Amino acid sequence: MHQGRTTLSKFLIQQLKGSPEQSDLAALLVDIAACIKAISAMTSKGMLGDVLGSLDSTNVQGETQKKLDVLSNVAFINTFSMGGLVAGLASEEVDDPQEIDPQDGSGRFLAIFDPLDGSSNIDVNVSVGSIFSILRAPDGRAPTVDDYLRPGSEQLAAGYAIYGPATMMVITVGKGTHGFTLDREVGNFILTHPHIEVPADTSEFAINASNERFWEPPIQRYVAECKAGKNDVRARDFNMRWIASMVAEVHRILMRGGVFMYPRDMKDPSKAGRLRLMYEANPMTMVVEQAGGLGSTGRSRILDISPDEIHQRVPVILGSRNEVERIERYHRDYDSGADQRYTSPLFQERSLFAN
Ligand code: F6P
Repeated sequence: MHQGRTTLSKFLIQQLKGSPEQSDLAALLVDIAACIKAISAMTSKGMLGDVLGSLDSTNVQGETQKKLDVLSNVAFINTFSMGGLVAGLASEEVDDPQEIDPQDGSGRFLAIFDPLDGSSNIDVNVSVGSIFSILRAPDGRAPTVDDYLRPGSEQLAAGYAIYGPATMMVITVGKGTHGFTLDREVGNFILTHPHIEVPADTSEFAINASNERFWEPPIQRYVAECKAGKNDVRARDFNMRWIASMVAEVHRILMRGGVFMYPRDMKDPSKAGRLRLMYEANPMTMVVEQAGGLGSTGRSRILDISPDEIHQRVPVILGSRNEVERIERYHRDYDSGADQRYTSPLFQERSLFAN
């Protein structure tokens, strides 16, 4: 029965062979899979598990923590602390990076993660996920904060879990992007989506449109053109989706194409964006780019950014290559003054009230 199915472990043994670092990376991803199974079991209990609702605490971003945020964070920390493969970790839910006691292992890697992304969806039973990014730890000494502040292009591995109708784990070690579905009865992740490819073109976009009045003109232009549909410059009708869970949004894009935007906006001008570079934008961009898509701030490639701090925010435009390149072009047009239409008060008015 089930002969010929490729488990995550078998897949990793095949993809990561040749050096001790590669085998340790395979072992680390297997540890992460075990952690994801534990979080999947907790999330799937819903109201029956006493895991829903908020706590009195807030995280470093000032966001109220959900019980499942904290439980998932503990699951990841325990996994990395006991596995002996990680020298230090940084999490959305922890202010500063934590060194792992070297007595627990030699630790070649640094793990950066968002233990439960989209947690506003937990209490309403909509898909959430976990995101992780793996960097190389310094050799022969304890990691410092600077060791984490590396551009996303240096990630050794990245991925996410989606806790949806099925639990899936989607990973890349720089050799394509591959999806595994949890067979709950057997407890194994099985390769179900090898070599995922994001179509270069799409007619679907995802953005929180309630922020439209705060967007910059290039984003207003792009969305206005999509909404104007087939009788306008795009010459086709577009569809829109917004789940408010980056993992679910990116997963949909990997499955059928699309573009996800959380751009810089003027709602709070002190913030460069809403999403966090190191444990949201970087790993998700690596996953999308390894599937042939693109990740950009609108003005630069996400994976080229040299981070200033662990919890840094960044504008994110992610998905089908031709759409992301078009949005980058709109930013260039705007910044160079080549496109005056979208700086005029008339456009602002049109865009706010169109359709
Ligand atoms: O913290 C990140 C996040 O929950 C993403 O998963 C999601 O894309 C976004 O925030 C939702 O933002 P909003 O509440 O503005 O819809």
